[in-house]
This record gives sequence, C-alpha cells and structure tokens, in this order.
Amino acid sequence: MNRREFIKNTVLATAAISAIPYIKADSPGKKYKTALVGCGWWGNNILGEAIASGECKIVALCDVDQRFLTSTEARVKDLTGDTPKTYGDYRELLEKEKPEIVIIATPDHWHPLIFIDAVKHGAHVYVEKPISHTVLEGAAMVKAARAADRVAVAGTHRRVSPHNISAREFIRSGKLGKIGLVKAFVNYAGGPEKPLKNIEPPKELDWDMWCGPAPLRPYAGDIKNPWGGGPHPRGFRSYLDFANGQLGDWGVHWIDQIQWILDLTQPKRIFSMGGRPVRGPVILTDTEQTTDVPDHQIVTWEYENGTQVYWEHRLFAGNNQEKSENVGCYFYGTEGVLHLGWLNGWTFYPAWRGDVIKQGSQLHQPDDQNIKENWANFLECIKTGKRPESDIEAIYNATASCLLGMLSLKLGRAVNWDESKCAFINDPEADALLKRKYRGSWEYPTI
Ligand SMILES: NC(=O)c1ccc[n+]([C@@H]2O[C@H](COP(=O)([O-])OP(=O)(O)OC[C@H]3O[C@@H](n4cnc5c(N)ncnc54)[C@H](O)[C@@H]3O)[C@@H](O)[C@H]2O)c1
Repeated sequence: MNRREFIKNTVLATAAISAIPYIKADSPGKKYKTALVGCGWWGNNILGEAIASGECKIVALCDVDQRFLTSTEARVKDLTGDTPKTYGDYRELLEKEKPEIVIIATPDHWHPLIFIDAVKHGAHVYVEKPISHTVLEGAAMVKAARAADRVAVAGTHRRVSPHNISAREFIRSGKLGKIGLVKAFVNYAGGPEKPLKNIEPPKELDWDMWCGPAPLRPYAGDIKNPWGGGPHPRGFRSYLDFANGQLGDWGVHWIDQIQWILDLTQPKRIFSMGGRPVRGPVILTDTEQTTDVPDHQIVTWEYENGTQVYWEHRLFAGNNQEKSENVGCYFYGTEGVLHLGWLNGWTFYPAWRGDVIKQGSQLHQPDDQNIKENWANFLECIKTGKRPESDIEAIYNATASCLLGMLSLKLGRAVNWDESKCAFINDPEADALLKRKYRGSWEYPTI
C-alpha cells in the first residue's frame, strides 16, 4: 500500500465523508465569508491579499493577544469599512460564524487542531507552513481535509512565484544535465545568546491559550523586540515546544522546492547533526530562559530513487563568501550549478564554458512574497474543486521531511523511514517521537 492509499483508506475507514459542495463561481460579486486565526505578522500579510482579491469579506478575527486583535480589527475597518467580529477562542469563532474560508497564521504548534476543526466545520483553509509541529499531526490534517472534501492550501507561496516556476522549468528541461546532489541552506550572522528574565505575561495576552496543547512555559518577551524577545510574538520559531527551529521554519520552503522540482515525496533515510556551540547552553529555570534550537544543523536525506539532498543552516558567520545569497538551494548537475534563491531570483553557472544565466524575482510588498498568487490559486481551487499548487498533502511531505531531520538530531543517529506506513522501520524509539503528549484536555489528532 502506498502512502496515498494509506491516507485514502484511513479516511474511508474512519470518517463519514461529508458532501459539502464546493462554492460555485456562479454568483457574481460573491464574497467568501473569511476568518483569520492568528493576527500577527504573517496573518496580516495574508489578510491583505484576501482583502485585495475583492472576493473575500473578513467576518471574524481571532487572536489570544488583544493588542493584535484590536490593531487588525482597525486595519480591516480602515481597508474595507467592515467590522469583523473578534474572538479569543477559535472554537467559538467556528461555531458562531461558520466561515467559508479560514486563514491559520498562529505559531506552528497550533496549526493542526485549528485546521482540523476548521475543515470539520466546512471551511476551506489556508494554513501556514510548517503545517504541523509533529509528523503524525500532519498526516491527520491531510486525512481531515480529504474526509471533509475541503480545499486546503499551505503558505508555501514559492510554488507560485514566477522565478521559482521558471527555475523548475529550466531544471526539468534537462539543462543541468544529470543532477547528482542538491543542497538547501539558510545562513545568518549572529552570536552568543543571553538568557531572558521570566516575567508575568502582559494583561492583554492569554498565555495559557497561546501555549495551548504545548507545555505551559514561563513567559519571557518584549513586544518591541519580536526577533529576540521570547516566544511571542514571532520568536516561537526558536523554541522546540512550539516549533522546530530554522529547519521547521525556512527549511520547509526549500525542501518543498526541491521535492516539487524533482518530483520527490518523502525520504527513506535521514541523518542530522547540530548543536549550539555559539548560542551556548539551553537554560530554562524558574527565573530565566534561552531559546533551545540548534544554532547550526546539517541534515542529509536520501530518497527512494537515490536522490541525495542536504541542508545546512548557521545562525552565525553570515554567508558573504558565497556571492549568491544567504538562503536558497543549489542543484548540482553535470552541466552546471543552479542557485535558486529568494530576493535575487535564480542563477545558472555552467560547469564548462558558457554564460552565466540569471532570472530576477517578482515579489510583492511587504516582505517580498508571492501570497497574492497563492491566494488566487486557492480561490480558483475553491471554485473548481482542483487541488491547489501548495496542496496540503505536498506540504505535509515537505513538513514531514524537515521534522524527520529534527527527529534524527534528537536521537543522535540515522533513521530509516517507511513513508507508506508513516512509521520508521523497526524503530520504536524513533516512532515514539512522531507525536507528543498534549497538555491538559487538548487531544492529539488521530489518523
Ligand atoms: N509562508 C511564509 O513565507 C511565512 C512567513 C512568515 C511566517 N509564516 C508562518 O506564519 C505563522 C505565524 O508566524 P508569525 O511570524 O506571523 O507569528 P506572530 O507571532 O507574529 O503571529 C502569531 C499570532 O498568533 C496568535 N496566536 C497564538 N495562539 C493562538 C490561538 N490559539 N488562537 C489565535 N491566535 C493565536 C499570537 O498571539 C500572534 O498574534 C507561522 O506558522 C509561521 O511559520 C510563514
């Protein structure tokens, strides 16, 4: 049984398939009732494109921090004249508003529960990457989307970015010759880390709900310093209770690009090493805390067809020695190297004689992204029932591949993966890390 059959069979076995019709594109001027859950940085970027499409009415907003809820509500009023309802609990929002579209832009550890509840309530969902925090949550999300017959798109907007599409065409036309190796990388400058003092959460923030199914961590943070001031806002990426570091954050974009370009699903063998020689030891006491993700990491993945991919990230030293960029991937072929990047587009360096070929990027502001195209593709799929470019199942593959790398790092050894069974091969110790215990009454989704 292959993985597609595995997911399909579990869907048929466990779910009564709901026959909720797709929203027909037959009523001119129709606006989809749209809700945003997670009104932070990226949620507002997606919201902007939903409004700009002219096809969505923002009926509801949800955040556990009143400050973000208030500012986003004001923005919607300003842009559209509408007054969305505001909520601190997504379950109440889904029950009362019954939105047709839900955008999920919370920290990663919240994606699975909100996603599954949203599709069960009949919504089509735009969920941010990585789709999940542990592997089995991702499999459960695919199953739930299929069972509910909803369109589910992930925020991997590089799949609809013009320069990424043309790089894919260039590579798939054979111009690189035989590709023997691929590398993905993200490298930033940085230094040692100082612990933050644990403090009382701000009064506007429901910190217990923010942590949700994850452990209730002491709060540390400063809203004025989103990239260095604790888990909220934005900093959750660097705390393993809520996310999976650079690999779970940036890695999903680039591993997805590689899998999309080379027609790969999930790897069969994975090995990772990493550590914190620069950031320093992990601290979590009653009085202070540091982040706990690796400051550098190397992962190698081998796929069924023999393709080998590796990842390197560093949060120190930058990457100025390479002229390309500090992020991206290199495809190494017998005819040359193609660097697929972000701001700089892509560049092909021939292995022999010949000109360097360059293709620039076409990105939108703010933050140099292609959400507009991803949103347009999402709406088209809602109308037609087609699978989106960043369909949930494809981004489950990319998310799972990155999470398997994190899992190898935690185990300190290589692992052999059977994608068709969503399990390791004769490795109960590794299997135990495919999910985690949820806190309190939150229930881990089942597949
Ligand atoms: N596709 C991309 O290029 C891209 C870029 C940036 C971020 N992202 C993704 O977007 C997501 C959000 O990242 P961010 O940087 O905007 O973070 P952020 O911290 O700015 O925003 C997250 C918001 O979610 C809220 N929240 C937390 N728990 C909630 C809950 N249970 N219900 C409702 N709201 C809740 C927080 O209070 C916060 O306002 C992440 O998954 C991240 O990986 C994707």
